[in-house]
Amino acid sequence: PEKYLFKHKGVYFVSDMATPDSLDALEDFEIRDSDVFLVTYPKSGTVWTQHILSLIYYEGHRNGTEETDLLDRMPWLEYNVRNVDWSKRESPRLIASHLPYYLVPKGLRNGKGKVIYVLRNPKDALVSCYHFSKFSHGMEELEFEVLMERFLAGKVGAGLWLDHVEGWFAHRDDFNILFLTYEEMKKDLRSSVLKICSFLGKKLTEEEADEVVDKATFDKMRNDRRANYEHLESDLVDHTKGHFLRKGVVGDWKNIMTVAQNERFNHVFQKRMEKLPFKL
Ligand code: A3P
Repeated sequence: PEKYLFKHKGVYFVSDMATPDSLDALEDFEIRDSDVFLVTYPKSGTVWTQHILSLIYYEGHRNGTEETDLLDRMPWLEYNVRNVDWSKRESPRLIASHLPYYLVPKGLRNGKGKVIYVLRNPKDALVSCYHFSKFSHGMEELEFEVLMERFLAGKVGAGLWLDHVEGWFAHRDDFNILFLTYEEMKKDLRSSVLKICSFLGKKLTEEEADEVVDKATFDKMRNDRRANYEHLESDLVDHTKGHFLRKGVVGDWKNIMTVAQNERFNHVFQKRMEKLPFKL
C-alpha cells in the first residue's frame, strides 16, 4: 500500500493528505474549551454527524439561508482539504478527525474541549470503504477479499478498527467524550440529536430539533449540496464513479461478504469486539 499510505507512529495515513511533520505539529494545536471534535474511524458516519453538528450550531445552515460548504463549516484537523486558519476561527469551532486518541492535540487529551466519537459495525465500515475505493483517488482499488485482509491487518487509513475504537474507549476518562453508534442514529435519529445537544449543552426548541432531524435524513442530505461533500475537489474523488451518500443502511455487509469471509472476519475480530460495550 506504500503509494497510497504512509505509516506514522503506528498508524496509516493517506499520502498527500498529511505529512509526518504536519501530524507532529498537531500535538501543540491549541484547544479551546468550546471546541467540538467529531472523531470517527473512516466510513462510520462522519459526514452525517458533521452535518448534524453543523445544523445544530449554524442557524443559517438549518434554515438554508447560508451557503457555506460543510467542509468549511467543520473542517478536518489532520487532512489538508481546506486551508484553515484555526486561530482566527470563531468559537465554537467544529473540527473533524480520524486520529487515534494518542495523536490528537495534547490539550484535548488533557480534557479541554469536547469529543463526539461515532462508531459503526466494522463490517459495514469495511464495505463502505470498499465502495469508497472506487471513487477515491487516495485509495487503491482492490478486490474485496484483498481489501478485507488489509482491513483485518490494520493496513488501511486510520489503522486497525479495533485499535481505534478500543483506544478511544479505554481513554474515555481523559476526555469529555460522548460515544454514539451509527446503528443507534439510524434507529432513532431524534434521540441521537437530543443526546448530542444535551452533551454539548446546546438548547434547541422542538421545532429546531425537528429541522435538524429532517435535514439530516439520508435522502435530504444526498440532495443537499451543502451537505453531500460533492464540493470535494476532483483531485481527491471522482464523483462520476460514486458518492459519499451511497446507501446509508445497516447490514449492507451481508450483500457482499461470503459465508467464508464472514467467518474469517469473525475469527479475527470477534473476541476483542465482545469486550466492547457497544451494540452494533
Ligand atoms: P454507505 O457507504 O454504507 O452508504 P463517512 O462519512 O464516515 O465517510 O461514512 C460514509 C457512510 O455514511 C456511507 O455509508 C454513507 O452513505 C453514510 N451516511 C452518510 N450520511 C448518512 C445519513 N444521513 N444517513 C445514513 N447514512 C449516512
